[in-house]
Amino acid sequence: MQVAPSILSADFGNLARDVQEICEGGCDLVHVDVMDGHFVPNLTIGPVVVEAVAKAATKPLDVHLMVENNTFFVELFAPLKPEYISFHIEEEKHPHRLIQKIRSYGIKPAIVLNPHTPPESIEFLLQDLDMVLLMSVNPGFGGQSFIDTVIPKAARLKEMRDRINPNCLIEVDGGVSDKNVQTLKDAGVDVVVAGSYVFKHENRAEAIKSLQV
Ligand code: DX5
Ligand code: ZN
Repeated sequence: MQVAPSILSADFGNLARDVQEICEGGCDLVHVDVMDGHFVPNLTIGPVVVEAVAKAATKPLDVHLMVENNTFFVELFAPLKPEYISFHIEEEKHPHRLIQKIRSYGIKPAIVLNPHTPPESIEFLLQDLDMVLLMSVNPGFGGQSFIDTVIPKAARLKEMRDRINPNCLIEVDGGVSDKNVQTLKDAGVDVVVAGSYVFKHENRAEAIKSLQV
């Protein structure tokens, strides 16, 4: 299992230090939550802060857009060369076009599904994606409890993924801890995002290791 700690739960007064700590602690990706106060009822960070994160990080960035105007934000973050940019299917009229745009920058495109959105909604996009992110909380905040319908959903997505594009990773975001990571692994999940579990742990390297099942 790959682990992407979400810096939403980091100490923003010591952001570079916290990013260095999770990278040295063995994480696989650094998950960056971008919220615009419109698509979700919370507001986080823009390119100035994400640039500082990119400078401090020795692991690739995984940028999760929770915004209304995806194209504008893709253009804003592309110069920072994250490994992945993911956008919500619920907020995009032309997802295929946006996937092509993200790829044209040399960035891996990913799509996010909210808890209610069925995996079949992206069946005809799967062949063009590097990752699908399943939300296991309602997007907007760290520290919420895990919605367990994501488990049968991940299993359904895995069946589609194995058939259509075996290279496409399955990521789960929200309420992940050492209590549910093995169940996620068994359902076919490849990457977990974990914010509060990693950053509230007294030993963050140990927390990361406990998720790498
Ligand atoms: C929620 C964000 C998550 C969040 C996860 O909208 O997408 O990445 O930071 O936090 P935890 O792991 O605390 O649920
Ligand atoms: Zn996220």
